[in-house]
Amino acid sequence: NIELKDNALLNQAIVQTQVDSTQILAKSYINEINNHFVVLSDEQTKGRGRFNREWSSLKSKGLWMSIVLKPDIAIQKMSTFNLFISLAIQEVIEQHYNIQCKIKWPNDIYIGNKKVCGFLTEMIADTDGVHAIICGIGINLNQTQLEFDKVNQSHATSLNLENGKPIDPYQFLTLLIKAIEQRYDQFLNLPFSEIKALYKEKSMIWNKTLTYTEGKKQIVGRAIDIQDNGFLTVISEDGNLHQFMSADIEI
Ligand code: BTN
Repeated sequence: NIELKDNALLNQAIVQTQVDSTQILAKSYINEINNHFVVLSDEQTKGRGRFNREWSSLKSKGLWMSIVLKPDIAIQKMSTFNLFISLAIQEVIEQHYNIQCKIKWPNDIYIGNKKVCGFLTEMIADTDGVHAIICGIGINLNQTQLEFDKVNQSHATSLNLENGKPIDPYQFLTLLIKAIEQRYDQFLNLPFSEIKALYKEKSMIWNKTLTYTEGKKQIVGRAIDIQDNGFLTVISEDGNLHQFMSADIEI
């Protein structure tokens, strides 16, 4: 275990060299650890993304981690959680690595048209509220183009590919934890409307006709706004308005 010094909120990390998935390991510790904690691994043999898609997690090439938070909130509040987290990741990449990147609502960070980070949020909740949030974040740090091509991910990129510098995962982790702590605190205490203008500015999906899929619903349209509850408003080609809580967006 390592101590993440100066981080009041997340001060415990479980660090492994290889796991099936940090998300699975994190869930197994929820009842054992009272406070917030982080699970990290150099490598995942069964990393998973949204929609149970395989998530390539090569040894020491990226930050593969799951953050467990234990808020005392109603389940309805969770609809804006991802928006605050995406801003935290986006700002670390842009401000500390000097790389222009954008949020692809609701769960990805892109550099140009290539994905550098994806995350997924699961929770344990009942009618009393949310007991635990398990946020799994995968950030590509040091993969080469060849390594992406080998796993059929030519649409992916790493920070190293973008700025030519080797990226120290622990430095990235420290910066990210700090940014997440700040944005998590805002998530708990501020309405999304307070950060909405910034979120929209850092987001990439405006003014483009894209395909939105959520469950059985699929439409082709243009995102025009985001609501205070985090829902995305999309106008389809026939002029109808649609609200998405979460969606798979083809770009
Ligand atoms: C996505 O883009 O679909 C989300 C990818 C999430 C990947 C991270 S890596 C750490 C954690 N463990 C997993 O198995 N998945 C998440």
